[in-house]
Amino acid sequence: VKGATLYVNLEPCCHWGKTPPCVEAILQSGIEEVVIGNIDPNPQVGGKGIQFLREHGLRVRTGVLEAEGRELNRAYFKYHEEGLPFVTLKYAQSLDGRIATSTGDSRWISSERARRFAHRLRAVHDAVLVGIGTVLADDPQLTVRMIKGRNPLRVIIDSHLRIPQEAKVLQGDAPTLIATASVAPKEKAQALRQMGIEVVEVGGERVELSRLLKELASRGVLSLLVEGGQGVITSFLREGLADELVVIVAPLLIGRGVEAIGDLGVRTLREAKTLRGVKLRRIGQDWVLEAKLR
Ligand SMILES: NC(=O)c1ccc[n+]([C@@H]2O[C@H](COP(=O)([O-])OP(=O)(O)OC[C@H]3O[C@@H](n4cnc5c(N)ncnc54)[C@H](OP(=O)(O)O)[C@@H]3O)[C@@H](O)[C@H]2O)c1
Repeated sequence: VKGATLYVNLEPCCHWGKTPPCVEAILQSGIEEVVIGNIDPNPQVGGKGIQFLREHGLRVRTGVLEAEGRELNRAYFKYHEEGLPFVTLKYAQSLDGRIATSTGDSRWISSERARRFAHRLRAVHDAVLVGIGTVLADDPQLTVRMIKGRNPLRVIIDSHLRIPQEAKVLQGDAPTLIATASVAPKEKAQALRQMGIEVVEVGGERVELSRLLKELASRGVLSLLVEGGQGVITSFLREGLADELVVIVAPLLIGRGVEAIGDLGVRTLREAKTLRGVKLRRIGQDWVLEAKLR
């Protein structure tokens, strides 16, 4: 690569992280020019990588495809700029907006291909979250099984620690964290901790989502996939804590059942939440809608 030009979306780092500094490897390789999309928002880098390269005689161009680079690394940017994980809400609904029938049956609303896509989403997130209602109704494992990939941290919101110790989400190798409130019985918290489950108190009467997000960020969670159910989806939307929405829409009509989203306090259309950057595509029989909420 002697004399070559290197194109990167993010400024090469100049510090020791999980790997040695990239700028030194670039220098040693004989690369002469570096074209960079974004300056690294991490205060440990923040332009120092560029400075190092220039000081060592390399030509550096910055700000090339800046918006596209930010989009590619959106979780990383949010984490460093706001100190919070990037939050994606994901669920599968019928065409008439139901995530389960009136008896709570929700398996499966979407097709196998759409569920494989959902597993792929899990594998690229640092953590995946559901409410205790979903654990009690569906007993999910929240692991990556339909594709090859790493398991995210499993997070359960459970203010009163109602979770049964036999719940599937508490088994297996994937790590699990239960977010709870101070009203929860201390003995149950102790018993769960003895099983190797992390129990974190983030609220008095009920789990406070904003506190939970800060707690997850402090554990290095950059991206969080919220998988339901209705109560949890509604809270994230009402509190304005979600960045993106991924809705799998199956060609089914359920009629009365569990609505995907509960009361958002919207009384006039002017108050309705507007989605931006809507993308719609087909996976098998289903539609996948992806959109930005912020
Ligand atoms: N189709 C899909 O994609 C999909 C995905 C998931 C679930 N589902 C369906 O959704 C249904 C479950 O929905 P759900 O609303 O009963 O359960 P949920 O949203 O999974 O959990 C709600 C519970 O979480 C706890 N919680 C604690 N803090 C909260 C907060 N700040 N905001 C909201 N909830 C908080 C509350 O119980 P505590 O106060 O006791 O903690 C609350 O009752 C099931 O029928 C399931 O099959 C469908």
